[in-house]
Amino acid sequence: MSCPLRLPNGQEQEQLGAEEGMIYGEYLMLDKILSAQRMQSAQHNKPVHDEHLFIITHQAYELWFKQIIYELDSIRNLFTMNLLEETQTLEILKRLQRVVLILKVLVDQVMILETMTPLDFMEFRGYLRPASGFQSVQFRLLENKLGVRKEHRVKYNQDYNSVFGNDENTKREIEKSETEPALTDLVQRWLERTPGLGLDGFNFWGKYEEAVELLLKNDREDAEKEPTEKIRKYKLKDLEQRKEVYDSIFNPNVHQALVKRGERRFSHKALQGSIMITFYRDEPRFSQPHQILTLLMDIDSLITKWRYNHVLMVQRMIGSTQLGTGGSSGYQYLRSTLSDRYKVFVDLFNLSTFLIPRSYIPPLTDEIRSQLCLRWGVNNITVTNGEGQDSNSQEVHSDKQHE
Ligand code: HEM
Repeated sequence: MSCPLRLPNGQEQEQLGAEEGMIYGEYLMLDKILSAQRMQSAQHNKPVHDEHLFIITHQAYELWFKQIIYELDSIRNLFTMNLLEETQTLEILKRLQRVVLILKVLVDQVMILETMTPLDFMEFRGYLRPASGFQSVQFRLLENKLGVRKEHRVKYNQDYNSVFGNDENTKREIEKSETEPALTDLVQRWLERTPGLGLDGFNFWGKYEEAVELLLKNDREDAEKEPTEKIRKYKLKDLEQRKEVYDSIFNPNVHQALVKRGERRFSHKALQGSIMITFYRDEPRFSQPHQILTLLMDIDSLITKWRYNHVLMVQRMIGSTQLGTGGSSGYQYLRSTLSDRYKVFVDLFNLSTFLIPRSYIPPLTDEIRSQLCLRWGVNNITVTNGEGQDSNSQEVHSDKQHE
């Protein structure tokens, strides 16, 4: 049945009733969502007010995890293409931006649960055992799809699969997320195709190595001229250390050894691509890739911030010595997950180590500049044929893909 709705301008608008289609609650299946808050304390006839908040908070997290996974899957799909159209780069940017904003909400959401006091929590905590966020399938999927690897997890966390017991579907889903290419793998493949890395083309890496050599040589000359012995020694020592750091990227064997130790994740070529994009980010075709790299770091930062906020909340609620309801050492275990081992894009954070002053950045050749430049509009080159008619109108823009 429909009834008219009076609008401010006096006109009436038909309101649609249930028989015309789905109404709000049906569309959102609110009957399911809003009846899914089963308070254990109430079931035990000792209702605790704050358990309601505890459940709602976790459910809200799980819904947002679902959306993040949905976005990540679609971003991974876009990256899977060998030839990434630049129109799709914008779509990737948009979705990464969305993930970042959701994560910001998730980081702040911890505060709402912190309005519950440890004493309130204690009143119903006993009913939760053995349930724990440790068993959040979606959190593991999210980590795996980003690229957290089993071997990089802390020991207790390497066995997380066992918590899913006989749930074969979940186990299969988790296994799939561990074996299929994660976002970090796909980003690396894309970075490896950065234009300008080819030895027979611009040969960015060769030029960068020469620039670093010149920089270190000039800095050494300056340091040797330093009159104060203490400062001279300090500068020379610092120089030695910087040289060692640069050697670690110029020597593929050293790089590989660091990858093996888990200190570096990116392939050698992907690292080259990310350094090149960072240097030439003002070139139009590198500006979106540069934004993508920034957003990937934001994702890592925000997840680390979430882990940190969660650990602080856990310490506030159960202290630092009580075991978790999931059976871990609780606070101590969670604190150990704050390390760089859980940062999927740790190499992007460490890029700053390899930057050189702008004046040393190898200048672009005309050829590579024309590849990286996108001009707006149409440049009409008019050629008149014998009869005085236009025979050609040429559009000028660089349309080579990031391939
Ligand atoms: C009173 C609030 C909370 C307390 C005391 C708490 C406590 C803990 C503890 C002790 C662990 C370690 C595993 C274990 O149980 O032994 C854990 C893990 C976890 N919790 Fe919470 N938690 C709280 C709220 C939340 C919320 C709101 C979420 C949101 C989804 C959440 C998600 C997780 C996740 C994903 C893990 C696994 C982390 C990892 O293994 O890296 N927790 N929690």
